[in-house]
Amino acid sequence: MSKSIPWWALWRLPLLALVLVASLGAAQFALAQADPDREAATAVPAVDADAWRQIKSGETGPNYRDSRFDSNYNLINASGETWRQIRDRWVSPFGVIAVVGMIVVIALFYLVFGRKKLDEPRTGRKLPRWSLMVRSLHWTVATLFILLALTGLNLAFGKAIFRPVFGDGAWAAMMSGTKLIHNYLGPLFGILLVILLVRLLADNIPRKHDLNWFAKGGGLIGKGHPDAGFANAGEKVWYWLLATAGIAVIISGLVMDFPNYGQGRDTMQWANIIHAVGAFGLTAVALGHIYIGTLGTEGSFEAMATGYVDETWAKEHHNLWYEQVKDQAIPGEQLEAASRSSTGDEPEPRSG
Ligand code: HEM
Repeated sequence: MSKSIPWWALWRLPLLALVLVASLGAAQFALAQADPDREAATAVPAVDADAWRQIKSGETGPNYRDSRFDSNYNLINASGETWRQIRDRWVSPFGVIAVVGMIVVIALFYLVFGRKKLDEPRTGRKLPRWSLMVRSLHWTVATLFILLALTGLNLAFGKAIFRPVFGDGAWAAMMSGTKLIHNYLGPLFGILLVILLVRLLADNIPRKHDLNWFAKGGGLIGKGHPDAGFANAGEKVWYWLLATAGIAVIISGLVMDFPNYGQGRDTMQWANIIHAVGAFGLTAVALGHIYIGTLGTEGSFEAMATGYVDETWAKEHHNLWYEQVKDQAIPGEQLEAASRSSTGDEPEPRSG
């Protein structure tokens, strides 16, 4: 004979179901944090009763537009559509124009004016310019920047370029790898760039003679060199672009990287626009910096590679700095002998 179950015991079942549903909800939330595919479910603010009422009535609002009265029955997230149009009509074309345009300008400049050679012969005596610490920071930041620029360009334009070539499967795998690299390297780049900027701040404070440097076009074309201290006005512009646009790119990147701090989709859309515009602009300017630091100017690359520059280079490109440090010049042979015996000691540059 079956025992009859008391009425109050029946509540155990719905209670158990409730606990199960609640724990599933919690698991869902935890998964959403771990799985980028699901993060949208928590990143998008809830659609409340008012929003549904608005949608049913066909009204337009700041976030939703119902196109049923245009007879095609689409529920459109209007702010998402505005973001998509800003990105497609303005941001992506700006990226192409800035980056490709800069490559063309640099190539033309090189073909017309060629490399900026030293006016006088080298003396063979070397001045310490960049410490090992700053060089290591510079090359780590530069490597991360290049990886972020390549993966970022792939996120922006890879679909149009690689999808038709590789097909859906290979393209999707490449994109998820790209996104992973971009998302993880971004914060690391941010931390190291801030350390580099703090370390170089004192040398990059604008001075009066910087105006004259601009007026003379930095001496990049033709003969003659305008006054410059440890950093010339062009380097200071690069520094302050990194300290402003660079920081904006890092902060907007973090807003998108960590969607679990309550920021809504609108905030993330704005972060995306700021991030892309800043990053495309910086990539274009970085191409100019890389050109000047390698092909463009004789003697510059060895500064960041070895830490030392020739006296002639210092006198011609950074005359005011040269006047302060000329007593530190070391014969090149002495430097080579020291690096062969490799004590690991190197003189600390008076700046940089
Ligand atoms: C392969 C790429 C790069 C090359 C060949 C390169 C080369 C150089 C060289 C030669 C200098 C020293 C110039 C001098 O002694 O006056 C320098 C300085 C510097 N570089 Fe780069 N660089 C590269 C990429 C980058 C990137 C991607 C960044 C930042 C994201 C960067 C940030 C800087 C900064 C902040 C300075 C110091 C300028 C100042 O004092 O204001 N570099 N670079």
